[in-house]
Amino acid sequence: MRIPLIAANWKMHKNPAGTTSFFRSFLPLVESAVHCEIVICPSFLDVETAVAAGRGTRVRIGAQNLYWEKEGAFTGEISGPMIKAAGCSHVIVGHSERRRYFGETDAGVLKKTVAAFDAGLTPIVCVGERQEKNAAATLAEQFRGGIAGLSDEQFAAIVIGYEPVWAIGDGETATPAVAADAHQCIRAQAKERFGAAAANQLRILYGGSVKPDNAGKLLAEPEIDGFLVGGASLDPVSFAELVNFQTDVHAGHA
Ligand code: PGA
Repeated sequence: MRIPLIAANWKMHKNPAGTTSFFRSFLPLVESAVHCEIVICPSFLDVETAVAAGRGTRVRIGAQNLYWEKEGAFTGEISGPMIKAAGCSHVIVGHSERRRYFGETDAGVLKKTVAAFDAGLTPIVCVGERQEKNAAATLAEQFRGGIAGLSDEQFAAIVIGYEPVWAIGDGETATPAVAADAHQCIRAQAKERFGAAAANQLRILYGGSVKPDNAGKLLAEPEIDGFLVGGASLDPVSFAELVNFQTDVHAGHA
């Protein structure tokens, strides 16, 4: 059974005061949400505040990026062990904005994913095509370069975030059918490389303009195991609505 995961990617938003006030409003709204895992990924500078605010609750904290070396002369970088020591349990790897603005490659994504695993973090590895028509080929290439090189054990520990670049941020969501097709494509890659059982266990999150008004239809797709949410995760009420969505399907994915 795949437990749904609803993850917030705050990108370069908020500060410690904003983080504190988010948690103050958000936590009471999700107290009874036991059907899914909740992960919030603030900026590095807000991790400490978020970890403190989430202590004793079911909310887990993740970072948005890491560097693959453990320590050393890498000015401005932050390693997996540092993120783990700060109290995080997850880390986003290879987000399309990292790929696009900071030159991240599939080979780098693989190294970061392994580094996250070695540090005891759950990597949320992001894939997604730039243009709607290239989905299958792009996903296959990103899987080959960024994920297929993992060991079976490493693969079993990851979550994949499918985020079609054309759907991020601007309000254009992939239809549930398009998203489900892409997830199937990823799961097929996983099956071919890691076997049917591993592919069946793999959680694939959808990301790209997820909002309370489109979440129900997306989550009703058995292929969609949760969300990676940008814009709508900044507001405690809308993110809580996303967390509290429950469908019969998600009472237990096969
Ligand atoms: P969005 O961002 O929800 O604002 O489209 C999703 C993401 O980039 O993780």
